[in-house]
Parts: sequence; structure tokens; C-alpha cells
Amino acid sequence: MALSSRIERAKREHGKDGNNGTDGKFFDLPSVPLFPFVPYSLFFAFQIEKAESNWERRAMRIVELQINGTKRRVEIDGERALLSVLRDEFDLTGAKYGCGEGQCGACTVLIDGRAVRSCLTQVASVEGKQIITIEGLEQKGRLHPLQEAFLAVDAMQCGYCTAGMIMSGVGLLKKNPNPTEPEILRAMEGNICRCGTYPRIVAAIQQAANGDKTAKGGAR
Ligand code: FES
Ligand code: FES
Repeated sequence: MALSSRIERAKREHGKDGNNGTDGKFFDLPSVPLFPFVPYSLFFAFQIEKAESNWERRAMRIVELQINGTKRRVEIDGERALLSVLRDEFDLTGAKYGCGEGQCGACTVLIDGRAVRSCLTQVASVEGKQIITIEGLEQKGRLHPLQEAFLAVDAMQCGYCTAGMIMSGVGLLKKNPNPTEPEILRAMEGNICRCGTYPRIVAAIQQAANGDKTAKGGAR
């Protein structure tokens, strides 16, 4: 059908301008002037912002933590990851952010003596528990035997994984003071070292377990 015929047909069916009787306009503008909408939109934006900040305030609460033997209090969202709280609120930056998904072990800390991924741990869930970070391993100026062993066998290259490796190793030695090599490998398999220092890490754990320098595999 030609365009002119279509227009004629539309006029017949929908009114003289073919737009359903709105007299050439697609919608009926303003019997109400536009300007009141401007303050209304500001009003609604303000209400939304207020609701958001109320919500954020509700999520904040005082959380009490036992970190490296010291009681710490902080007002935060209890759902925040322990890793970010340790690093950003308490400046304990030994635990590292690697994957954020529990896959690399760089963020490992001890919770009640057990190696735990702090990137996946909500801070409210560890209230009242003993949290030990790499900064808390040293006692009276002496490094932990596993830290000494890491230094002795040079079990690090860039060092990014090292704190997590040591915390996982300490967790293992707490559970099993004399692990076999397969037990060490099993316990450490969730910790990733991109520099590939695995043999020396295993050697360091063996050395700390033996309490001497007889561990195999420590040589570069
Ligand atoms: S950052 Fe937590 S496991 Fe990778
Ligand atoms: S020493 Fe570099 S990631 Fe392990």
C-alpha cells in the first residue's frame, strides 16, 4: 500500500491526524508545568541517599577481636572479610590478597590454632576467637622456629606467598608436630607459590618439625 493511502487510512481509523485523537502530539504535555518536577527529583534523590546511608549505618557495629593476644575493637560492617579488616583497620599487612576466593592461601591466618583463609572469613564470625597473624608469631623478639627454618633454607623468592605458607605450616605443625612428606604436601596443597619454591618450603617445614638443620631438599 502506498504511503499516502496508509496515511488516509490512519486518519479514518484514528482521527484526523492519525494519532488517536491527540492532535499531533504523542503525549499530552503539560497541563502541569515542568518546573515542579525538578525539586521533586531532587527530593527523591535525597530520600534514596538517606535510605542508603541508614542502611549502611545499620550494617555497622562494634566488633571485638583478639588479634595476636591483644583485644581490639572496631566499628565496622560485620560481614567484611577478616583480611580487609586486618590490613585496612589494623595495618597488619602480612596476610596478602591473592585471589580473594580461597584458592591461593596468601591470606592465611590462624583462628584458634587452625589455618584459615581470611579472605573468605567474615569478621563477625571470629569474634571471641584467637586470631594470629604472621606479625604475632614472633615471641619476645624471637622468630617462630618455622620462620627461622624458612630463612635457613631460603624458602622464598618474591615473598608474596610466604606469610600464608608459614601460617599454613604452623597450623600443620600444631596439629601434627612430626608430619611425613606426603602429609606436608597434603596440608600445603591449597597454598600457591608462583615462584615455585615448593621443595624449599617442604624442607623448611621438615626442619622446623625436626628442630634441626637436617631437612632434605633445602639446597637450591
Ligand atoms: S587471597 Fe585468600 S585464598 Fe587467595
Ligand atoms: S616466593 Fe614468590 S610466590 Fe612464593
